[in-house]
Amino acid sequence: MSRAVRQVKYMDLPRQFASGEIQRKIAEEFARCQFVLGPPVEEFERRFARLCGTPHALGLNSGTDAIFLSLKALDVGPGNEVITAPNSFIATAGAIVAAGATPVFADVTADYMLDPALAAAAVTPRSRAIIPVHLTGNPADMDAIGAIANRHGLAVIEDAAQAVGAELNGRPVGSLGTTGCFSLFPLKNLGVAGDGGMLTTGSAEIDRAVRLLRHHGLRNRDECEVFGYNSRLDTIQAIVGDALLDSIAAVTQMRIEHAAFYDQALRDLAPDVVVPPRRPAARQVYHTYVVQAARRERLIAHLAERGVETKIHYPIPIHFQPAAAHLGYKPGAFPVAESQAERIISLPVHEYLTRDDLAYVAETIRAFYRG
Ligand SMILES: Cc1ncc(COP(=O)(O)O)c(C=O)c1O
Repeated sequence: MSRAVRQVKYMDLPRQFASGEIQRKIAEEFARCQFVLGPPVEEFERRFARLCGTPHALGLNSGTDAIFLSLKALDVGPGNEVITAPNSFIATAGAIVAAGATPVFADVTADYMLDPALAAAAVTPRSRAIIPVHLTGNPADMDAIGAIANRHGLAVIEDAAQAVGAELNGRPVGSLGTTGCFSLFPLKNLGVAGDGGMLTTGSAEIDRAVRLLRHHGLRNRDECEVFGYNSRLDTIQAIVGDALLDSIAAVTQMRIEHAAFYDQALRDLAPDVVVPPRRPAARQVYHTYVVQAARRERLIAHLAERGVETKIHYPIPIHFQPAAAHLGYKPGAFPVAESQAERIISLPVHEYLTRDDLAYVAETIRAFYRG
């Protein structure tokens, strides 16, 4: 095995906390001990809403809960169908199932987004909502999906778990659908120090419904209006998220620049390596930088032997998961997603990479196809 000359990690979370500033802010909270829904949660929600250009943002336990509680607030449940993409993280379908509804998949386009024409063809009288996924940090085709939703009276729940800061025609994701659902899982472009999520909406009614649902349905300390859940963002996590929000513009810019570097350095390797497609109207924020690669498994091993860590998001389409067997999809149901799942590989694109790291990754890939 060759000796790695350089280590390029997929992500470098300890660097986010290296200054100790966030730890100091957390320590201050221990003087107040208002650990659940304390004032920092409200402040973080206010700033997150501003970032997304929505009147409302609500801190929750997770991105999964943001999707689940969107469905609950919209009264989507047993007997209803929700259309989404089969190439997402399992949580998108998991939240639909948790709400008691049935996930209905439609295939994706060459840029990994829910295909609007196929989503339209999947509409039935039982359809209640569409969940486009801004996978990789690339906004889905919200104009076309919004038009389908309007035509059929469906809600649009944006799965923006990977896409904080992404925009379509200059409008932020999270403000383009009925609700926007963000994950604050540590590896996300804006993460916290554990689980966390955010729901954005332009609807005061949904805001009120989810505020109730996330807090046991309690209208006040003693009166319960509806049976609900416990899905509140911890105050400590809000402190972390709020502190990291200060750098989200810079983080996003770095990722966009790194992606542009890879685009340039790898584009001519097509068709062995296919760089992510771009659309002029979309501001992609590259939560992941996904290429399609020939002889993927060998390329991954080649990179790993030379110190470059990569991942696959995601190797098994949701309809192939054992959990989805009862939905009855057969191989070949979604040929684009299925073929992409065999070729995709996520390269390191995080904000702490240097130009030398990026050049090393690109050159290591080029050497593989030369060899
Ligand atoms: C596309 C997508 N949807 C939903 C989720 C679920 O978010 P969380 O892990 O915060 O529940 C994630 C992230 O894990 C995701 O990447």
